[in-house]
Amino acid sequence: MRNYSLETDATELVGPWLEPVLAEVLEFRRDLHAHPELSFQEFRTTEKIFEHLVSAGLAPRRLDGTGVIVDIGEGPIATALRGDIDALPIVEETGLPFASRNHGVTHGCGHDFHTAAMLGIALVLARMHEHSPLGGRVRIVFQPAEETMPGGALSCIDQGALDGVPRIMALHCDPRIEVGKIGTRIGPITSASDTIKIELTGRGGHTSRPHLTEDLVFALAQIAISVPAVLSRRVDVRSGVSVVWGQIHAGSAPNAIPVHGVMSGTMRCLDREAWHAAGELLDEVVQQSAAPFGVDVHLEHTRGVPPVVNSEHETALIEASARAELGDDSVVLAPQSMGGEDFAWFLQGIPGSLMRLGTHVPGGEEYDLHRGDYIVDERALSVGIRVLCAAALRTLREPTAA
Ligand code: NI
Repeated sequence: MRNYSLETDATELVGPWLEPVLAEVLEFRRDLHAHPELSFQEFRTTEKIFEHLVSAGLAPRRLDGTGVIVDIGEGPIATALRGDIDALPIVEETGLPFASRNHGVTHGCGHDFHTAAMLGIALVLARMHEHSPLGGRVRIVFQPAEETMPGGALSCIDQGALDGVPRIMALHCDPRIEVGKIGTRIGPITSASDTIKIELTGRGGHTSRPHLTEDLVFALAQIAISVPAVLSRRVDVRSGVSVVWGQIHAGSAPNAIPVHGVMSGTMRCLDREAWHAAGELLDEVVQQSAAPFGVDVHLEHTRGVPPVVNSEHETALIEASARAELGDDSVVLAPQSMGGEDFAWFLQGIPGSLMRLGTHVPGGEEYDLHRGDYIVDERALSVGIRVLCAAALRTLREPTAA
């Protein structure tokens, strides 16, 4: 086994190996895009992944429900790679010839791209292994239900996705980074994201006599203001705790105090410790903000995901791979996103790194994730495949601790 090195080894570039399978992967991606499926319902997607892997001579394993795991090579696992496969309940507005045929569902977060990139890596590694043994194993996890909370990553882990896995890497499309480049960051790259739902109940009554009942709308408004304000004072402000409401519903008439009201929103946080602290404070703040008004309060705090915290070594592996495959200017510093990403669960016990895959066309449309009009520049596909495949190959050359 050779010594581990971050130096470029031009003889092992992935590009030439990708060439013969790129058309298949692109077609696969367009087919997935046309047939998006929601979290834990990715049955067709799972079948398609499975078929392509089998016809490449691999032996994939179906996960319970949806999702696939496949190992390429033999011997100890050097790394796992993960691609998320689900779509969003959003109407597609791209006008693409291969736009969603499943109305109201679209791959607005680029997970069709992530899935295709992972398939591409599997096909490339399979060909390489056929040519000469990889000298270890790479595991690819096609994970369902990233868009739910707490996310499908946990069910993959329960089903052994990480057994024998010393590290894991992943990518996510980024419409703010130029296509042809990747974004990396050591430390937290996404944020914790929980959902909060608060229900208030009172007796209701006439708006002329709030003192004889519980003024439920006023109490809702008070909680809406107090919770974000108090948390921003009680938790270290550098942890970026941010509570933002997405829904408030109560009442049906201008002169009737309603008996029931509900509000919901998200609580995001940049670091893992503050995420725990804010969660514990939330209940206290909600109860105390509501208390003066006499309403009954029911708080539903659904823990989402912790932040994805990228390890230094795996991030360096990805950066070195990108520079070797794509050139020295192909790596940019990615900012920490306030978005949540359930890849974080995979990193609870092992190191790993999530990289950003640039999809922005200079001078082109400005897009954002989770929008019906998000168009991913397909040139990004080979970028993602080459970088993560090269990173996986580098891990195969590392002396394993296992
Ligand atoms: Ni996503």
